Amino acid sequence: RLLIVDFGSQVTQLIARRLREARVYCEIHPFDQIDDAALDRIAPRAVILSGGPGSVPEPGSPRAPQKLFEMGIPVLGICYGQQVMMDQLGGAVESGHHREFGRARVAPAGDHADDRIFAGLFATGEEQVWMSHGDRVTALAPGFEVIGTSPGAPFAMVADYDRHFFAVQFHPEVHHTPNGRRLLENFTRYAGFTGDWTMGAYKAEAIEKIRAQVGDGKVICGLSGGVDSSVAAVLIHEAIGDQLTCVFVDHGLLRLNEADEVVTMFRDHYNIPLIHADESDLFLDALEGVSDPEVKRKTIGGLFIDVFQKHAGEIGGAEFLAQGTLYPDVIESVSVSGGPSVTIKSHHNVGGLPEKMGLKLVEPLRDLFKDEVRALGRELGLPDSFIGRHPFPGPGLAIRCPGEISRDKLEILRRADAVFIDQIRKHGLYDEIWQAYVAILPVRTVGVMGDGRTYDYACALRAVTSVDGMTADFYPFSHDFLGETATRIINEVTGINRVTYDITSKPPGTIEWE
Ligand code: XMP
Repeated sequence: RLLIVDFGSQVTQLIARRLREARVYCEIHPFDQIDDAALDRIAPRAVILSGGPGSVPEPGSPRAPQKLFEMGIPVLGICYGQQVMMDQLGGAVESGHHREFGRARVAPAGDHADDRIFAGLFATGEEQVWMSHGDRVTALAPGFEVIGTSPGAPFAMVADYDRHFFAVQFHPEVHHTPNGRRLLENFTRYAGFTGDWTMGAYKAEAIEKIRAQVGDGKVICGLSGGVDSSVAAVLIHEAIGDQLTCVFVDHGLLRLNEADEVVTMFRDHYNIPLIHADESDLFLDALEGVSDPEVKRKTIGGLFIDVFQKHAGEIGGAEFLAQGTLYPDVIESVSVSGGPSVTIKSHHNVGGLPEKMGLKLVEPLRDLFKDEVRALGRELGLPDSFIGRHPFPGPGLAIRCPGEISRDKLEILRRADAVFIDQIRKHGLYDEIWQAYVAILPVRTVGVMGDGRTYDYACALRAVTSVDGMTADFYPFSHDFLGETATRIINEVTGINRVTYDITSKPPGTIEWE
């Protein structure tokens, strides 16, 4: 295995992700848990030292055990990791000379004749890299030579080929270092990893970890019908079978046939014990007369917690709550609680539940990114059509029905939405789009159908492309597609007589209307 020693960088998980992409098994351990005994136990075949917020010249700043450099295994230091290596191996690091954040270009230096480690780099002369450092190396440790250099970091890439030590000042793991993944993969191959690790192996390890954590305790999992909670549930069920019970709260704000599909899939197909809590009346009654988006969100969020708690209580003796938390959720909640960011929308989640119910958390997807969760879902045999589904917000159709919600409007909305999605699938566009839905507008307009006057709701189609939901562009449908879709919705859905297309990007718009 490859050991990543984490010095606390924001992007350490990205190193792990790149290694998984290179099909290499790795483990991240915080630096303060790595001592000589841990090194013996883990017996790594290679080590990567991550970046971190510390400053090497400061007394008491983190270091690696010296033993790590005496084991004869390849070591790659990144940013703070590079500085740690230089410091511990006899070089020098200084603070405050030259802060460097952002893009930089590294030019080759020294002899690249036989370096498997830098193979494929510098093909066009210089490499674009991402820097983020305040300190820098000012003297190389004995045995090292310079391999690449940038204006702000004369020792941007260095190597001691004899001892198999490599170190870079920039971050090869981030997207803004386009050839960084190549560098990391080269390092793993250099260290003798063949790249035969698979998502199947990840699944097996995850199952072992769940068993070790849970023992013979009972676990409750809130199912939303979304990909993350579903993958978590199926994985946990594979690990501990019927010690798991799922609770599916149906708030009456789901899409056409969605509740039936969830119940059929989990209860009938996977045989997972499932409580289907049909609480739509409770939610819809509470939402009557509510038109303010934040009040809607908070009403739904609050009720959800109550209802979940009630049904989870019926299970009796549960010790654990399973959640489909992903790595980006972990980072986002850290940065949200630590920063002065403004609440744009109160996101619907079950954040406060574990403390309220005195449950311990099981979060088997915490290290993964969305596309990796999808790959794991495939590994678990979840159908592609399910895994590729667009995201759906916790408050459901409530936030796609601006203004007051009524059962009638929701029914109209469901049918219009189903037609729109059917159109998108028929034209083979579903997988190109991040999210698509219909919003029913709080306005009725006059139309003419046959020889009669109509006075019905207007709706808006929304479809966006996005990488992570943080920014988005409207999808450029052809006019023919839009025309055909409008005709179908008006013909097939009683209650709608006008269709518009929302061409707002995010920002300034958001993906959902509320
Ligand atoms: P916005 O509308 O903020 O949405 O651009 C970004 C992404 O988040 C989803 N979304 C939610 N997901 N609970 C969720 O689980 C929520 O309360 C919520 N609000 C928005 C939205 O569908 C989009 O994918």
